[in-house]
Amino acid sequence: MRLTDYFDLSPRNSFGFSSRARYGAEVTRVEEIAEIAQLSERLDLPLYVLGGGSNCLLPERLRAVVAVMAIKGWTIEDSTADHIKITAQAGEDWPSLVAQITGSGLGGLENLAGIPGTVGAAPIQNIGAYGVELSDVFAHLNAYDRKENRMVTLTKADCRFAYRHSIFKDQPGRYIVSEVTLRLPRPWHPILNYAGLRNLPQPQRPETVMQAVLAQRAAKLPDWRVLGNVGSFFHNPVVSEETWRALPDMPGHPTNGGVKLSAGWLIDHAGLKGLRIGDAGVHEGHALVIVNHGHATLPEVQALADQVIRRVRAKFGVTLVPEPITLGRG
Ligand code: EPU
Repeated sequence: MRLTDYFDLSPRNSFGFSSRARYGAEVTRVEEIAEIAQLSERLDLPLYVLGGGSNCLLPERLRAVVAVMAIKGWTIEDSTADHIKITAQAGEDWPSLVAQITGSGLGGLENLAGIPGTVGAAPIQNIGAYGVELSDVFAHLNAYDRKENRMVTLTKADCRFAYRHSIFKDQPGRYIVSEVTLRLPRPWHPILNYAGLRNLPQPQRPETVMQAVLAQRAAKLPDWRVLGNVGSFFHNPVVSEETWRALPDMPGHPTNGGVKLSAGWLIDHAGLKGLRIGDAGVHEGHALVIVNHGHATLPEVQALADQVIRRVRAKFGVTLVPEPITLGRG
């Protein structure tokens, strides 16, 4: 495998950062994962893996080796009376995989339609939307373990999934996911608890639910191809019941360990929609999204995020935590 010098990441991230890594390459076969890991060690540079680049923040110059995960393909593993198992390679595009599977009549992934990114990135932050998280349909995954220098299989329990969290966030850089096996339960039951889906008449075909999800996403969230962004910029914060009660009018959802507030609501009600620093701006439509109005840089995005955190804390006493991963930090 050959590394490219000053590898251009600009076309490989959904925010539209102008960025180059010292070295980079596309990984198209599973054996190349160990190869690029060894090359980065020999060069004494950190190794970062990029999927669709849809949940990361990039500096202009990244002193690192970047592996773009491009292993493709998916297959139906087995199909029984109570489930269907599908294995997808890490470089598959998540939204097109969901569209293909749902379009062929198989249910279980429809609420996760339209989330930008790759299959290999999906477990890292345990992607979730419209009442479903990846962990709900996850069976196991294969990954290269950089600590043990070998391929390993991680079960759902091993991955320690939580809201936008997993072992991969606790131990960054240790595992490089090569393929993910999903388990879609049978018979299919639509999950329509999310406010915007409650009015859909039952029973539905998976595809009808997917179309409703895609329509809602299109109405709320900016398309990164038109206006660069990394989706939700902050986690929805979980606070104690007591803290929530002290905040008048604030919508909250009881969850494990407290009440989940809406970061978008907090930012909106702190009057920050449209706030800009340079070309980085809080989206006018959905306050949880930071968008690139042209040539936004990492320092601009960070300054804007810091200001949002400060002003939300000053108004509501709640500290927001950013969700995307910043490459090259530390
Ligand atoms: N809201 C406002 N102002 C805003 C935005 C939202 O008042 O500018 C209010 C809404 O009216 C609603 C509440 O905030 O009452 C929640 O908003 P929404 O339903 O849009 O969902 P969210 O909590 O902001 C989460 C996920 C999204 C996911 C949607 C749908 C997180 C951090 N974000 O957003 O995930 O698509 O629910 O399930 O959990 C992502 O992770 O990148 C992402 C887009």
